[in-house]
Amino acid sequence: MNVEEKPKFENEQIKRQKIFIDKIKKINDEYAEKTGKRKTMFISTFGCQMNAHDSEKLEGMLVEMGYSYADEEKNADFIIYNTCCVRENAENKVYGNLGYLKRQKKLKPNLKIALCGCMMQQDSVIQKIKESYKQVDIVFGTHNIYKLAELIYTNLETNSPVFDIWKEHGEIVEDLPSVRKYKFKAGVNIMFGCNNFCSYCIVPYVRGRERSRSSADIINEVNALVNDGVKEITLLGQNVNSYGKNLKEKITFAELLREINKIDGLERIRFMTSHPKDLSSELIYAMRDCEKVCNHIHLPFQAGNNEILKRMNRNYTKEKYLEIIEKIRSEISDIAITTDILVGFPGEGDKEIEDTLDVIRKARFSGAFTFLYSKRTGTPAAVMEDQVSEADAKRGFNRVLQTLNPIIFEINSQKLGKTYDVLAEEASPSDTGFIKGRLRDNSLVHFKADESVVGNIVNVKITECKTFYLIGELV
Ligand code: SAH
Ligand code: SF4
Ligand code: F3S
Repeated sequence: MNVEEKPKFENEQIKRQKIFIDKIKKINDEYAEKTGKRKTMFISTFGCQMNAHDSEKLEGMLVEMGYSYADEEKNADFIIYNTCCVRENAENKVYGNLGYLKRQKKLKPNLKIALCGCMMQQDSVIQKIKESYKQVDIVFGTHNIYKLAELIYTNLETNSPVFDIWKEHGEIVEDLPSVRKYKFKAGVNIMFGCNNFCSYCIVPYVRGRERSRSSADIINEVNALVNDGVKEITLLGQNVNSYGKNLKEKITFAELLREINKIDGLERIRFMTSHPKDLSSELIYAMRDCEKVCNHIHLPFQAGNNEILKRMNRNYTKEKYLEIIEKIRSEISDIAITTDILVGFPGEGDKEIEDTLDVIRKARFSGAFTFLYSKRTGTPAAVMEDQVSEADAKRGFNRVLQTLNPIIFEINSQKLGKTYDVLAEEASPSDTGFIKGRLRDNSLVHFKADESVVGNIVNVKITECKTFYLIGELV
């Protein structure tokens, strides 16, 4: 683990929080002196890379407050859930865990429980927590994670639950401390929020309107990361293709990529997620020209039927999507394209799924996240009349997988016998003696090596192919 340096503390908000961080640190140091042990923390993160990245900031702040790490949740003095609400099962997991924490708190009355993230931006959730989960101490949302220290301090002072949820985002708070999970790769937010309002999706309601960080702030952050040993960065946003639209400076995502590509010492640039409606030719050319930008694009298409796409408010047609894919492949021949597919949207029956299968066959994805539609209260799709039964949705889902998986396997098989650059990431938890790494096209490979290779880019020859990963050997 490795604590990022904070280059500047100029931001007023940060200055204010630093005071609270110091106050809690003092309390925690005194506790450690008295008891001989430090207060420990445990963070559980649900949802997407944006949440994972927020959790690194929460962790950074908690480390500065003098908390150490608990090996398991049940041994922690401070537990925080950074929640997701994109699908119902993500929410159910949190409620399930909270039920368990009720008993824990009875055993350990000094245990502190905090909740944050996307779920907390919904009034109905806050209501439910206030009524049924009274053991929770601190609740905040997606717009004010930087206030963690102040909220903890208020809770300690008042000894009563603290709720602080903002309906609207404030200014972007730069330079939060952060603890990165990996020394050699890092996520970098380039924008927050989403303006697209796909009719099934809750994200725009819980993450607020689209806003981009200035290119100077992004480039400074990437420079600092590279100086700290980072080789690969992933630029993060719900829709990176519309980067820059609300900024005073005139800059597009493609121009940002070209700027970041100039940074010495950086080896690989990734980004996610791209929305097909905003994908410009300019971006394709930048990907083609920038040697550090990896030959991979994640381009969710969700569904293939034009009527469904229209009702999803996706703003492209099946033909347009396939045209974009063709254009990308004509410029970048070795590109790997991955996608998200949503099955069971209102009105999607066997006939409509045929169009989804057609896109899968034509686009030839290297990988896909496939989701069963989950009704989200407050979204337009939730009140559409022709909701699909679970059985029908599952049937469609299986047909999607049956079409998708052989293609993925076929694409993987073409790598047999070839040698690739692989960034070695960590020991494989399932295969002892094996290291997990990623090709530039984002394929996962397991290869025999010792842990000293972790963090390096090595040459790996592919010797075997499974559906979801490759097996290889160091050469
Ligand atoms: N901004 C990204 C995706 C963010 S959410 C994009 O638009 O590409 C990640 C994925 O979750 C989406 O691509 C979609 O496939 C899925 N998803 C979103 N809302 C969902 C819902 N209500 N039920 C099931 N899956 C959903
Ligand atoms: Fe949700 Fe659509 Fe925004 Fe993606 S682009 S986060 S699917 S509303
Ligand atoms: Fe979930 Fe929020 Fe990400 S709803 S998918 S954690 S933006």
